[in-house]
Amino acid sequence: MQKGVTVWFTGLSGAGKSTLAQALYRVLRDRGLRVEVLDGDVIRTNLSKGLGFSKEDRDTNIRRVGFVADLLTRNGVICLAALISPYRAIRRETRERIGSFLEVFVDCPLEVCEARDVKGLYRRARAGEIRGFTGIDDPYESPESAEVVVHTDRETVEESLAKILSALEERGYLAP
Ligand code: ADX
Repeated sequence: MQKGVTVWFTGLSGAGKSTLAQALYRVLRDRGLRVEVLDGDVIRTNLSKGLGFSKEDRDTNIRRVGFVADLLTRNGVICLAALISPYRAIRRETRERIGSFLEVFVDCPLEVCEARDVKGLYRRARAGEIRGFTGIDDPYESPESAEVVVHTDRETVEESLAKILSALEERGYLAP
């Protein structure tokens, strides 16, 4: 029976969380494993529809995803959660709830995320059209003890993926 685990990607908007989660999803699925992605942008169109970006709403969003991730993990699924999840305390709460948990800090300097500006949201935040944007006028609390740290400004997707895969292997979640 496959062991369940939650891989929790945290980092700024545009850091590369979804890209890495999708790439990891393909690798694991191709190995015949059961895997599911919980992506912030998608979750916010259904499970967390109507929630905003206050600390309270973000924490509610994370708690909901944590609840689903726990159910999947208990049932032997590899669950890939990709959310900014800017607050340390709620990430710790989620980790404790799930137990089989691997935190991946998708570390990318704000300037690089802002230069990428894939969704054009940083520009709008700088223009004052969006208030409370993470990294601009809202906090992001970096992890202090993530199992994996990837640097998407200077690593390829393959290099970052390799780090995550070896962390999963070392902990017995994946066969080497
Ligand atoms: S979280 O803070 O609750 O974990 P989540 O990952 O679900 O955030 O959603 C983040 C996405 O929402 C961003 O990638 C961006 O597209 C969009 N977004 C809209 N408003 C904001 C905001 N004020 N701060 C951060 N992201 C925002």
